[in-house]
Amino acid sequence: MPKLGVNIDHVATVRQARMTDEPDPAWAAAEAQLGGASCITFHLREDRRHIVDRDVPLLKEVVVTKLNMEMAIAPEIVEIACNIRPTQCCLVPEKREELTTEGGLDVVKLADRISNAVKKLKGAGIWCSAFIEPAQDQIEQSAKIGFDAVELWTAGYANATTDADRDRALDTLRRGVEIGHKCGLEIHGGHGLTYRNVGPVAAIPGFYEFNIGHSIIARAIFVGLRDAVREMKTLLDQHGPKE
Ligand code: PXP
Repeated sequence: MPKLGVNIDHVATVRQARMTDEPDPAWAAAEAQLGGASCITFHLREDRRHIVDRDVPLLKEVVVTKLNMEMAIAPEIVEIACNIRPTQCCLVPEKREELTTEGGLDVVKLADRISNAVKKLKGAGIWCSAFIEPAQDQIEQSAKIGFDAVELWTAGYANATTDADRDRALDTLRRGVEIGHKCGLEIHGGHGLTYRNVGPVAAIPGFYEFNIGHSIIARAIFVGLRDAVREMKTLLDQHGPKE
């Protein structure tokens, strides 16, 4: 069954809206784990718009499952990661003007800079994942650079507006998983997944983990985070490959 990573950034987004001390993303991490999350994901953005420096060591203390730090390849952030040593770093593209991460990191175009960051992170004993589009060249290049895993961008599927486009996007993801496995990579998926659309992606064999944020935090407003996580985990278990 695919595992569930819960992105708790938006808990910090609510806190930062008032520049106060609640709700606390560390508390959210504890609740998400009690609901069955196998991984807690956070993104320390260069502009610190949600998660801030103070949160990072606290998350490291509170997370007893797997701590996944999403990050740009900026040297300042790489240094923070090497000091904190989360279980895994997931390298993502980052733009100041975006509302959320848009598309995957171009590991072909930025190979040299990315390789340097991966070398430093792996030297600190951190697992490395690349958030990429499910394209053959991106997956193969990720393996060449030395990533342990790739997180395939699922928003192409999530944003599709016709059945034909959705089916094409699912096929692309299916092929991506196969190529990734041939390259020896662990395969994760994420972005734009919701309670309504997660089923067909969860059914694709070979995904080790999905990272889901917005939809779970949105549901948590009404049912509480522990139950929101439980419900998403139940969906992954129901739809996940049976063997
Ligand atoms: N994976 C990555 C690499 C992301 O950047 C994000 C968004 O922060 C997610 C997964 C979660 O996406 P969503 O909030 O749409 O579930």
